[in-house]
Amino acid sequence: MLAAYGLGKSFGGLRAVDDAKLEVAQGSITGLIGPNGAGKTTLFNLLSNFIRSDRGRVIFDGEPIQHLQPHQIAQMGMVRTFQVARVLSRLSVMENMLLGAQKQTGENFWNVWLQPKQVIEEEKQQRERAEAILESVGLAHMAGAYAGALSGGQRKLLEMARALMTDPKLILLDEPAAGVNPTLINQICDRIVTWNREGMTFLIIEHNMDVIMSLCDRVWVLAEGRNLADGTPAEIQQNAQVLEAYLG
Ligand SMILES: Nc1ncnc2c1ncn2[C@@H]1O[C@H](COP(=O)(O)OP(=O)(O)OP(=O)(O)O)[C@@H](O)[C@H]1O
Ligand SMILES: [Mg+2]
Repeated sequence: MLAAYGLGKSFGGLRAVDDAKLEVAQGSITGLIGPNGAGKTTLFNLLSNFIRSDRGRVIFDGEPIQHLQPHQIAQMGMVRTFQVARVLSRLSVMENMLLGAQKQTGENFWNVWLQPKQVIEEEKQQRERAEAILESVGLAHMAGAYAGALSGGQRKLLEMARALMTDPKLILLDEPAAGVNPTLINQICDRIVTWNREGMTFLIIEHNMDVIMSLCDRVWVLAEGRNLADGTPAEIQQNAQVLEAYLG
């Protein structure tokens, strides 16, 4: 579903991502791990074209995408969340969710006048979808609150929930469990498994190894911008190079 080959990005003299390869199979939950500063977030930024790569190619759903804008990539069905959640603090949780919905008839000014019934019906459906998703991440009771009033963990949940509003094929999560309490982490993991069974593919950066090992079909390991290993969680756990990279 997603493949990247020979990806490279330098910041000044630092090779943040260096000749990296990554493959995400359709229907999988794929993990991306590595020590702090390994280049994981930068790789996400390159995959979703939030920053331009110096070299390499990215293929999503059979199409090269490295020339596309991030919003065009999102429209193709690949969305991502940020390590530090980006939510609109002065809007309510529900408003944040509705902004995540795409291609609504009401976004075209004339349709509001010419097809009011359809616009109202779509809004109702989006609202119901938003409520159902908020419910599933345990944020339903906060729907009317300002997003700015949420805890760091709750913001991460909201960002993930909002990404789901577009019904993506592939969702890239940058540390979904960071700053989230253990009960909520379990809930997030359960949700990811459910959404995955419903057909959604995941690529997840995470330092919490329990999360990675319990969720992932395959894990890719990055260290100092380069591929260190890839394999099943069991293979990765026993890989001497991986252990060394983590223990320093
Ligand atoms: N915009 C930037 N300008 C300069 N250097 C950057 C920039 N973004 C990242 N870096 C550097 O690139 C390297 C990789 O950073 P990146 O954030 O991708 O790592 P990471 O694997 O996501 O780390 P963490 O686990 O701490 O989130 C780091 O040395 C970082 O300081
Ligand atoms: Mg990061």
